[in-house]
Amino acid sequence: MEDFATLTYNGQKITLPVVIGTEGERAIDISNLRAETGFITLDPGYANTGSCLSAITYMDGEKGVLRYRGIPVEQLAEKSTFKETAYLLINGRLPNREELTRFSVMLNDNSLVHEDLKTFYQNFPRASHPMGILSSMVNALRSFYPALTTLNLREEITITMTRLLAKIRTMAAMSYKISRGHKVVYPRSDLTYCENFLNMMFDNPVRPYQINREAVNALRVFWILHADHEQNCSTTAVRVVSSARVNLYAAISSGIAALWGPLHGGANQAVIEMLTAIQADGGSHKKAIERAKDKNDPFRLMGFGHRVYKTYDPRAKIMKKMCDELLESLQINDPLLDIAKELEEVVQKDPYFIDHNLYPNVDFYSGIVLRAIGIPTSMFTVMFAIGRLPGWIAQWKESVDDPKWKICRPRQVYTGAQAYDFVPIHARV
Ligand code: CMC
Repeated sequence: MEDFATLTYNGQKITLPVVIGTEGERAIDISNLRAETGFITLDPGYANTGSCLSAITYMDGEKGVLRYRGIPVEQLAEKSTFKETAYLLINGRLPNREELTRFSVMLNDNSLVHEDLKTFYQNFPRASHPMGILSSMVNALRSFYPALTTLNLREEITITMTRLLAKIRTMAAMSYKISRGHKVVYPRSDLTYCENFLNMMFDNPVRPYQINREAVNALRVFWILHADHEQNCSTTAVRVVSSARVNLYAAISSGIAALWGPLHGGANQAVIEMLTAIQADGGSHKKAIERAKDKNDPFRLMGFGHRVYKTYDPRAKIMKKMCDELLESLQINDPLLDIAKELEEVVQKDPYFIDHNLYPNVDFYSGIVLRAIGIPTSMFTVMFAIGRLPGWIAQWKESVDDPKWKICRPRQVYTGAQAYDFVPIHARV
């Protein structure tokens, strides 16, 4: 049965189609609104705008549900590998044994990066943020691997997607090594995706890296939890930029740039900085909480709140549990974890946070997990970016495959000066 909504304005009545998703979410299709009435809709921050139809990720912000291609994220975090989850997101279903083997071989075959890339890394100023470097380097990949000439060649698209997935972890680890003035460690075909990354980060001639099962597992879960999150800021950036028909590298580079922001992926770094500041201040979180509640202070409690989740972020639940288990198994006593837990406890009872539906999000405990693995704070958001890459690629592919794919071009309500004549310089006051 087709459903319609009716809009009445100044005696004019128009019907607008209602679109219903597979989980029952409803949207009013306003794509013909302007043609029929002259009106556009206004929705700053797109908080109430559905920008596309998508079959990749389902979220229920009220119930705290997150599923990739229908599978609950809790099950993937428990049973899947990051590689398999990436395949699931991009291809729409879990791979069979043969498909997974082929995917693994392709990832291995593409894991090296062009040696000339090293010179780029070496020439960034030492204080450069790794997210700025990663965004630039992913964009630069287009110059090294320019084969993608048309978006219609399926094979080229597959190779480019695999190349990106394979190289991003090599590039991230390489930037870390070069920033420390250390010799670059190359990927190895005998290691898994997560093991390879940790080995490239931490192996050195003086102390060869011993694969640590707990760290590998924590990284696996961390990356699965970050793998997609439907139309968030960076994914929207990827979709918007690619809608102008730029190459995949440029689109992903824009996603990385968006993710860098402290309101988005940069929050994992900001959380640790906030907890460290609380620690330096004697461990009292009172000041931070008061500042977060003060309307005249732009300070926010980092790692709290979410545009969609109005309850506990399901990723944060898994991350918190994993954080406890990891620290215990590695016998790490991180005072920041105690501060984080105390802060959460106090916040949960505070009417301001209750009334505003502010719960811990994925970034609140993730930094403590990354610290325990040995990842430096400045690399935290890079870790998020590696995890989010399959989601960006899946969303990009879905938009490219959409027969109704259009350039993204919102409108505005102009509030500036009305037309007036140009004044020659001698006549200006
Ligand atoms: N601390 C204090 N107050 C907050 C916070 C916070 N972390 N987050 C939201 N609020 C308040 C905000 O001041 C506003 O209050 P009022 O209505 O009284 O003016 C109200 O809650 C709504 O805030 P908003 O900015 O309109 O909400 P939003 O949906 O636009 O923003 C958010 C979502 C995630 C940007 C925001 O909650 C925030 O800035 N959180 C801290 C940064 C953070 O942890 N980001 C990571 C997000 S999860 C990872 C990811 O997906 O990137």
